[in-house]
Amino acid sequence: MTAPRPRVGILISGRGSNMVSLVEAARADEAFPAEIALVLSNVPGAGGLDRAKDFGIATATVDHRAFNRDREAFERAMDEVLRVHQIDLVVLAGFMRIMTTWFVQRWEGRMINIHPSLLPLFKGTHTHRQALEAGVTEHGCSVHFVVPELDAGPVIMQAKVPVLPGDDEDALAARVLEQEHLLYPRALAKVASGRTALVDGALVER
Ligand code: GRF
Repeated sequence: MTAPRPRVGILISGRGSNMVSLVEAARADEAFPAEIALVLSNVPGAGGLDRAKDFGIATATVDHRAFNRDREAFERAMDEVLRVHQIDLVVLAGFMRIMTTWFVQRWEGRMINIHPSLLPLFKGTHTHRQALEAGVTEHGCSVHFVVPELDAGPVIMQAKVPVLPGDDEDALAARVLEQEHLLYPRALAKVASGRTALVDGALVER
């Protein structure tokens, strides 16, 4: 008997193009080692929710604004939805809330994020602007395990793109996003199959 595939909950706040690429990759490959079981948004009406419904995937909304800035109460509500849907792995895909240590520790080793830069360069927001201002010739994206410190978790995989003369933020963002859509399914497959794991805060490849 094969082991059951981990059930993945994808957390989004917006259009959800990375979520779509993950769902398409999982559906295109019978042997993909994870099942996308839930798409959860903190933003009511986020574009990605409709796209998830079109795929027939369960969706949920936990509106952070309903919790009066009590971040942990918001996260407890999300955690409950994840529990109800028996989620094993949390995948952040354009999820625009910073998590408390409580939530991060609860999901440590079972939560990954995609960040649009070659970490440890350009943490936080406006990463393409940061890259252009720094004058780097190479930029890209990283998938990493989530740890309490923002954008600081061990990197699972990265993809690089050139920065070209004349690039503005939009051109660079589009070039990086194309790579995100290829990278994230590969990185998720590594984590879901157990080939890559977080052990005592460090990345282990098996
Ligand atoms: C992506 O660039 C991702 O790296 C960043 O937010 C963006 C989300 O885009 N964290 P989408 O919602 O997946 O289209």
